[in-house]
Amino acid sequence: MSSNSKFDEVFNESINNPDAFWAKAAEDIRWDKKWDKVLDDSRLPFYRWFTGGELNTCYNAVDFHVESGRGDQTAIIYDSPVTDTVRKITYKELLDLVARFAGALDKLGVKKGDTVIIYMPMIPQAMVAMLACARLGAVHSVVFGGFAPNELAIRINDAKPKIIVSASCGIEGKKTIPYKPLLDEAIKIADHKPEKCVIFQRPQVAAELVAGRDFDWEALMKDAPAVACVTVKATDPLYILYTSGTTGKPKGVMRDNGGHAVALKWSMKNIYNVEPGEVYWAASDVGWVVGHSYIVYAPLLKGCTTILYEGKPVGTPDPGAFWRVISQHKVSVLFTAPTAFRAIKKEDPNGEYLKKYDIKSLRYLFLAGERLDPDTYYWASDMLKIPVIDHWWQTETGWPIAANCMGIEPFAIKAGSPTKAVPGYNVQIVDSEGQQLPNTEEGYVVVKLPLPPGCLPTLWNDDERYLEYVEKLPGFYLTGDGGYYDKDGYLYIMGRIDDVINVAGHRLSTGAMEEILAKHKDVAECAVFGVNDQLKGEVPIGFTVLKAGVDRDHGTIAEELVKMVRNEIGAVACFKQVAIVKALPKTRSGKTLRSTMRKIANGVPYEVPSTIDDASVLDIIAEAARTIGYGKK
Ligand code: COA
Ligand code: AMP
Repeated sequence: MSSNSKFDEVFNESINNPDAFWAKAAEDIRWDKKWDKVLDDSRLPFYRWFTGGELNTCYNAVDFHVESGRGDQTAIIYDSPVTDTVRKITYKELLDLVARFAGALDKLGVKKGDTVIIYMPMIPQAMVAMLACARLGAVHSVVFGGFAPNELAIRINDAKPKIIVSASCGIEGKKTIPYKPLLDEAIKIADHKPEKCVIFQRPQVAAELVAGRDFDWEALMKDAPAVACVTVKATDPLYILYTSGTTGKPKGVMRDNGGHAVALKWSMKNIYNVEPGEVYWAASDVGWVVGHSYIVYAPLLKGCTTILYEGKPVGTPDPGAFWRVISQHKVSVLFTAPTAFRAIKKEDPNGEYLKKYDIKSLRYLFLAGERLDPDTYYWASDMLKIPVIDHWWQTETGWPIAANCMGIEPFAIKAGSPTKAVPGYNVQIVDSEGQQLPNTEEGYVVVKLPLPPGCLPTLWNDDERYLEYVEKLPGFYLTGDGGYYDKDGYLYIMGRIDDVINVAGHRLSTGAMEEILAKHKDVAECAVFGVNDQLKGEVPIGFTVLKAGVDRDHGTIAEELVKMVRNEIGAVACFKQVAIVKALPKTRSGKTLRSTMRKIANGVPYEVPSTIDDASVLDIIAEAARTIGYGKK
């Protein structure tokens, strides 16, 4: 076993004595009232942290720093190559913006416990809106801008927001995407109607406002009173973040206030090894969990300067974009998805753009969101010559489950492994009965309950569905990933064991795509699964069987199917290829053999399953896969 004594000591304490461990970490947060209980297990299998405690997350992320002398330090650097803007906002200025926007929301009727949907691009107003909700004790739900109206409507129906905050447009590379028509369409198709909308008008596009319902952000801000923080319970919800499950209905991951603040602040020093005042950059989007945790809350809780980057790793304007931001703003830690580095590597394999910039401020590169393939790991390490840290987590946990903890005691890096379970997470590899497997054997990656603070206490208004995580194998939280420990105790995450895929670090449900294809009038049945992609890691492809008697042109039907997924989920689904076949391979009991199809499409060896009903269908799939550019050539 590879062991580091200091790390082992911290890890063992977190598992053997979680109350003392997290109580100590919680001293770093300002509480309005101290908790009665650190770990509350009075309603198993639901666990709560810091029951009885009271605080305000916005106070801890903003006001506290102004009160303790960081008012003039930059809190946010908004760097937007797509609008040619760099704007620095100090903690003092941020406090003013957040307190006044909270005042504006309050005047519109938003009170503690109300929900607010935020559908915004990567602009400072998105962060201000999130923090203003936290200030009021309102529950925000940020919806990623790349989602189509239908997906937004699903979230509106579930979160039932009193108010929606949006902007006139997003800017994606060279494209300007008007958001208001998408928002209007979503409200039209949703059953729940928000009372009011607040729209931030960007100079690129002027949105038409609906009289009586829509309010202009700037006009509201002009005479908005600055309001104080509202004290909430540690266990009150801070936000809901929807993430893809195995069906078309996304899961509303709920995050509380107390455990979240404690865990995130702890992670900044212990995992990322950053100090207050340093510049921390998570190149993601506020619509994803990485954005919630490491663009907004964790860096601000820690008193760092966070970068809000509205651009891409390539094309805005070139593959030197990341190096420019690092050198211009003296970034200490960069966190992004491997796909971003694959994009840079593809356009600048020899690092010519890197040579133009001085990036010596950069101490670590952290990558997550999908498996870090060894090629990308070696390329990034060779180029940057700093530790390149793969770490593994998910929307549900909100912060890393496995990492090489730079602030405790670094381990030697092994390519392909996110190293070890982070303190607080008792990660085990088990079989389908929940029996622990020896090292080197692959199985289900689970976390022995309780999960540490900051992880989902439940799903929004859906305790039943939450139980799917913790009741299949009693005593464990099912991560949905497969993997193993090697002989040295390093963890390897090999991919999802359900219908969730990761496309360019974006989590999507193939089940949701199948539900859309099945709605097409000519489709009898279908299967969607992820195939390997050099840039995006994985992309979804579909196979459909048409209803008997349909004699329309297959190319036209395929185009319609691609369009349906784009219209209903959004461009971000990257669903571009669908093959029309005579039959899908099935077991004798009628189960579609998606994993065999996936191997065929990936061109890797496969065994004909003994349960298959008709093995000749596999040849049909192989042939069809070739016609859309997959499988063995
Ligand atoms: N609003 C509207 N549309 C969006 C969007 C947004 N916020 N984000 C993405 N899209 C659209 C894109 O414009 C693209 O549309 P297209 O099919 O018309 O070209 C589509 O969704 C797919 O987007 P994406 O998968 O991001 O592909 P890309 O080719 O534009 O960029 C990368 C590829 C690798 C450069 C990009 O995915 C990236 O920078 N990833 C970084 C990692 C990251 O952000 N991870 C998130 C979690 S850590
Ligand atoms: P999301 O909820 O969008 O963060 O996606 C979570 C999923 O992404 C995980 O369950 C994994 O399947 C995958 N994932 C995230 N980070 C990693 C990583 N470092 N290595 C392997 N898979 C990862």
